[in-house]
Amino acid sequence: MRICCIGAGYVGGPTMAVIALKCPDIEVAVVDISVPRIAAWNSDQLPIYEPGLDDVVKQCRGKNLFFSTDVEKHVREADIVFVSVNTPTKTRGLGAGKAADLTYWESAARMIAEVSKSDKIVVEKSTVPVKTAEAIEKILTHNSKGIKFQILSNPEFLAEGTAIQDLFNPDRVLIGGRETPEGNKAIQALKAVYAHWVPEERILTANLWSAELSKLAANAFLAQRISSVNAMSALCEATGADVTQVSYAVGKDTRIGPKFLNASVGFGGSCFQKDILNLVYICECNGLPEVAEYWKQVIKINDYQKNRFVNRVVASMFNTVSNKKIAILGFAFKKDTGDTRETPAIDVCKGLLGDKARLSIYDPQVTEDQVQRDLSMKKFDWDHPLHLQPMSPTTVKQVSCVWDAYEATKDAHGICILTEWDEFKQLDFKRIYDNMQKPAFVFDGRNIVNMEQLREIGFIVYSIGKPLDAWLKDMPAVA
Ligand code: UDX
Ligand code: ADP
Repeated sequence: MRICCIGAGYVGGPTMAVIALKCPDIEVAVVDISVPRIAAWNSDQLPIYEPGLDDVVKQCRGKNLFFSTDVEKHVREADIVFVSVNTPTKTRGLGAGKAADLTYWESAARMIAEVSKSDKIVVEKSTVPVKTAEAIEKILTHNSKGIKFQILSNPEFLAEGTAIQDLFNPDRVLIGGRETPEGNKAIQALKAVYAHWVPEERILTANLWSAELSKLAANAFLAQRISSVNAMSALCEATGADVTQVSYAVGKDTRIGPKFLNASVGFGGSCFQKDILNLVYICECNGLPEVAEYWKQVIKINDYQKNRFVNRVVASMFNTVSNKKIAILGFAFKKDTGDTRETPAIDVCKGLLGDKARLSIYDPQVTEDQVQRDLSMKKFDWDHPLHLQPMSPTTVKQVSCVWDAYEATKDAHGICILTEWDEFKQLDFKRIYDNMQKPAFVFDGRNIVNMEQLREIGFIVYSIGKPLDAWLKDMPAVA
């Protein structure tokens, strides 16, 4: 059997690498239109940072795992074609700011129809709005020249930073397909691939629409937990409760469970906001404004949380950060990834730059080039293929990136911790304090520092949802 995956990104790359590792009898080709991306997959420096990924790729590359820009050849030869291309949010026209832009999906589907010479199973792998499969099915069948295509939806639930673990040991694999004999045969074929390593009872099957909607729903539920605890964090600060204690107590209820209850500066990543916007759009299109409003609130609280954080920083520092050096520790949307898509750091940095701060940014996995691109990009441009993204001719001058936390914090007035990298927990804060301007501030957007220890050193410390320093009480931030 031959598998081809169109799109060598955060989803396509790791997923196919794991399929290749677990299914030595299957030949897997990952194709992309981006030449540098494929070159990187074929080099020692993979294009994405993901713990454990190097190992998996090294074991299979050149044996039954191939990365190529020859999209048409590999699609033509494949029995199963996964499509994992970008699905940005539309910036203009109908549904702008909410609906998914299916340009890349549609062009992939048309290409599959054009080059295919044998029957194929086409698997929707990127998150796309409900009923996309139907549209894709129409494009394929209307251009099929007698070839039979079966469309499946097989949403990916991996989280970045733990992708390999999630793929090795998934909570569930979900396969949606047509409820016809041919549809069922296609479902069984894909099931057989996963059955190489996933226990049978964890492979769920559903109809196409349920599978598609489940992905949006799962992400909306997860994001909702974070917005719920973040909303609580504001109330904790106002009343003197400690959000960590509250979420611990709440999570002990087995009906609620302890995971995904960490208050933070806000959620980021390529999925949560985009998927909820999609959900909102679908609800509106189906005449369900109340349901749309309900989910919209999850995003509103996330934006509120990022604004609130910026306001805390500015308010604490005498209501101005103009020309002050602020060290930004962490720019990725979570630890153990170099991915910056929709990272809360973008909004926080833009907020501080709006007040004319000078930023010195350190993230162990994010380059200066990426930071500059993120800070100068328009809201919804981030999810276009890299080579199509607008490159800003001007860099943001108030921003510099360094490769060391001590360098970033030297002579700074304040520190904002925006990603929970483990190495930030080990920093020598006494040394950092001695090299900073006074009063020295730490704003911990991930609740990873020991507040007491830092206060003893002399810092003024703000941690999300924790009892406030007297200093912060005297300088309230109005969000
Ligand atoms: C998410 C889903 O978890 C995954 O199932 C889906 O396939 C893709 O979207 P991902 O975005 O990679 O995965 O990471 P995730 O671990 O879900 O974190 C998303 C954001 O929420 C990060 O910014 C993270 O820092 C934040 N977060 C997470 C919190 O602020 N608090 C928490 O308790 C958990
Ligand atoms: P994800 O996080 O969903 O994997 P990425 O943006 O990381 O998303 O990856 C999507 C990839 O799809 C990009 O590398 C992009 O170049 C590629 N791509 C987009 N359109 C096409 C296409 N028509 N043919 C091949 N590759 C494509």
